[in-house]
Amino acid sequence: MKNLKLRSEDWFGRKGKDGFIYRAWMKNQGIPAHEFEAKPVIGICNTWSELTPCNAHFRELAESVKHGIYEAGGFPVEFPVMSLGETLMKPTAMLYRNLVSMDVEESIRANPVDGVVLLCGCDKTTPALVMGACSVNLPTIVVSGGAMLTGKYKGTDIGTSDVWRFSEAHRAGKMTQEELSVAEACMCRSRGHCAVMGTASTMASMVESLGLSLPDNAAIPAADSRRKVLAHLSGMRIVEMVRENLKLSDILTREAFENSMITNAAIGGSTNFVIHLLAIAGRVEVGISLEDFEVVSSKIPLIANLQPSGRYFMEDLYYAGGIPAVMKELKSMLHRDCMTVSGKSVGENIKQAECYNRDVITCVERPFNPVSGIIVLKGNICKDGAVIKPSAATNALLKHTGKAVVFENIEDYKARIDDPDLDVDETSVLVLKNVGPKGYPGMPEVGNMAIPKKLLEKGVTDLVRISDGRMSGTSFGTVVLHVSPEAAVGGVLSIIEDGDIISLDVANRSLNVEIPGQEIELRLAAKQQTNRVEERGYVHLYQKHVEQAHLGADFDFLRGMSGSKINRDSH
Ligand code: FES
Repeated sequence: MKNLKLRSEDWFGRKGKDGFIYRAWMKNQGIPAHEFEAKPVIGICNTWSELTPCNAHFRELAESVKHGIYEAGGFPVEFPVMSLGETLMKPTAMLYRNLVSMDVEESIRANPVDGVVLLCGCDKTTPALVMGACSVNLPTIVVSGGAMLTGKYKGTDIGTSDVWRFSEAHRAGKMTQEELSVAEACMCRSRGHCAVMGTASTMASMVESLGLSLPDNAAIPAADSRRKVLAHLSGMRIVEMVRENLKLSDILTREAFENSMITNAAIGGSTNFVIHLLAIAGRVEVGISLEDFEVVSSKIPLIANLQPSGRYFMEDLYYAGGIPAVMKELKSMLHRDCMTVSGKSVGENIKQAECYNRDVITCVERPFNPVSGIIVLKGNICKDGAVIKPSAATNALLKHTGKAVVFENIEDYKARIDDPDLDVDETSVLVLKNVGPKGYPGMPEVGNMAIPKKLLEKGVTDLVRISDGRMSGTSFGTVVLHVSPEAAVGGVLSIIEDGDIISLDVANRSLNVEIPGQEIELRLAAKQQTNRVEERGYVHLYQKHVEQAHLGADFDFLRGMSGSKINRDSH
């Protein structure tokens, strides 16, 4: 620290009028000067909001972080950024991920902070905050909010993946509205985010496996007092990180990204992992491509038995040893020298880890499923790629040929999916267009289309489904997602018609529509592009600049970092 000039000194260390203004207005909060002068000033970037129920406990969590910062000799300043509540925001929270990343980036850079603690929870809040912080590249640590306690309904454990099961049971007439209402309260019985390995848990695991959080960040339940201890310790650690000048770019190396891909495969993480990791890599200018997910993680077996790919919940993962125990099982495949925010390497972090329950975390030699990870598909439907999560799919459908049943957009799908006259059977392939980044816009989680009611009543539980959208990390099925290029930019998906034959062959990584190339060209030439571009506001900016899914759906002008330097000074 001796030679390290604190960034905040440029505000609080100044003499004359400017220093007067910077200090005086801090003092109106009742803070004596010695609290913030010549001490590491730590921003706590808070996504607390009562409209983001998964993050509604974050004010309390921030207090624990502050205690740790004070204890280590730093000065905490909490600031809000736009929050993204997955369940309430319309048309989709993903539309705003890049906006929040801009809010975070500019808020950090513009203010007198030397280091940052990111309080993340509900799905998009994690990638948005990490992306924004990456573009500034100060010392940064992530504290996740933790998952809810496992739900309990009629004597069984339930979590968010049961929303899909309950909904299908209700549509098939096997569950009443009253039973659904009871199940709502039984599932969300504590603070925290979704309790399965959905996107929020995947993101919390992602930051831990990247080295951006202290060990155990991913799995300690939100309601467990040890979550506050972790927040306190993270507050202490960020002050040391400032003194060590340990920045995000020191941690986020190519090897760290590979560690995260391997870990995500082993835990059966969400398909959303792909899109968010690509966007984060873009911010720190580490060259990760969609193909890397295939190369790095497709041979990794599933060793965590967690819903939706398996049986258990995040609470169980913590009691079984958490992500450190998972990573210890994977240690021969990991880059163990990677530095982490703890100040130790990955290898040092996992050295003492132990597995306490082999039903939840097994070893690579006896996996729960030899197939895991994200499989990247290529073919004439998706020349730039599409993804499928085989651990959440039906094995028998991983090689399948069937006739397309096409929905032109989400409204068309909603209007006709339960139409008794819909020409669909158990061999059909459901195709949903115009739910990609530009087409919807915002790439909503609608790719796991519901099974048509008339098939549900016959006992059909899965169909091959294809779209340019995403699906919730809590859901499951033989669902091909993130088709790129999307329909709205003239991808081949846009010209598929009812009755076209579609072949999915996951083992051979292929997805094709059986139409001759010439016919495809003719149909594309005849296709009228109907995508409407908003004329004003944020959605206009989004539609103009969002990249395709295989690139991470970030804005083209947000790739890379601008650093923490401020070029102009109006004071
Ligand atoms: Fe917030 Fe699932 S809705 S994590």
